[in-house]
Amino acid sequence: MASNLNKVVVAGGGVLGTQIGLMCAYAGKDVTFWLRSEGSIGRTQPKITRYSSLMLEDLLGAKALIGNPMGAFLYPKGLIRSWNGITAEDIDALAEQAKKNFAENVHIELDMAAAVADADVVIESMSEDPKAKIGVYNAMKDLLPEKTILLTNSSTMLPSTFAEYTGRPEKYLALHFANTIWKNNTAEVMGHPGTDPEIYKLVVEFADEINMIPLQLHKEQPGYILNSMLVPFLSAAQALLATGVADFETIDKTWELATGAPAGPFKILDIVGLETAYNINQMKPDAQTEGSVTNLIGKLLKEKIDRGETGVNAGIGFYDYRK
Ligand SMILES: NC(=O)c1ccc[n+]([C@@H]2O[C@H](COP(=O)([O-])OP(=O)(O)OC[C@H]3O[C@@H](n4cnc5c(N)ncnc54)[C@H](O)[C@@H]3O)[C@@H](O)[C@H]2O)c1
Repeated sequence: MASNLNKVVVAGGGVLGTQIGLMCAYAGKDVTFWLRSEGSIGRTQPKITRYSSLMLEDLLGAKALIGNPMGAFLYPKGLIRSWNGITAEDIDALAEQAKKNFAENVHIELDMAAAVADADVVIESMSEDPKAKIGVYNAMKDLLPEKTILLTNSSTMLPSTFAEYTGRPEKYLALHFANTIWKNNTAEVMGHPGTDPEIYKLVVEFADEINMIPLQLHKEQPGYILNSMLVPFLSAAQALLATGVADFETIDKTWELATGAPAGPFKILDIVGLETAYNINQMKPDAQTEGSVTNLIGKLLKEKIDRGETGVNAGIGFYDYRK
């Protein structure tokens, strides 16, 4: 069954918003980025250029994986729906279609009313600031057509926190993507108690259509499925380091060798970014308690952040990526 959700508006042209919009355009949806100012266009346009190039690079790079036994694990799963039997010609055809879709299906609009006038879906991917999100939901609610489904990509807030401000609680839920969406193509689908189950199903269908693997949550859960596991895991690893039990390389090696995972916790932390890890750590109640493990972790991360060692994006975090 097709969802018939074809006109997509993305509110927020940051890191994730841009990736989500491009992913939808790649999959043939018509995408409008609603941005709040000319300044936002100046910040979002380069991201559109950068991420669309990265997507094309990874797509064409997958040709080198054909015939490689690891290919089936490494190919960009958001860009290629099925790896089995794929040829270089198939990938070239996908790349041509992608270029066309990026050129024709991506629009930017500053006027909110014009942006959402015929929207089937609005995906809100704005900063993790509840006031900003509520402000935009309030401004949008009388402009949205009856049919529009409103989705949030919020990582840390529950849809029930915002449902009442949307004017359409039954058509409001979370669809939560992961960074580098075209490779890490998970989409956690999480409603609140007032979400219409039929709308939930349509969103699952929509997620599949934009090449995501929909991961369905049956109830609201702070941190969804992934972060409910990842945050305690990363905290446990940081505690081992901060209390001097072992160095970060040994901790990573232990995890990788024992479980077969490709990356240990400190490689993951470098990807997540140490600032994010620090912010999560500092939210814990004992963060300011001198001598607590949380406090030790906070100090360790802060020292690294102050030295500019914030992770892969900075070229150095726990590991050095500049070599
Ligand atoms: N970065 C990640 O890895 C990641 C992963 C999954 C989900 N998320 C979620 O995605 C959302 C966006 O995160 P991001 O990393 O893309 O942030 P970002 O800082 O890169 O982008 C935020 C965007 O929101 C816009 N914005 C802020 N206030 C606004 C307002 N009042 N009106 C209109 N636009 C406004 C900013 O201009 C910016 O374009 C957050 O809810 C976050 O929790 C992020």
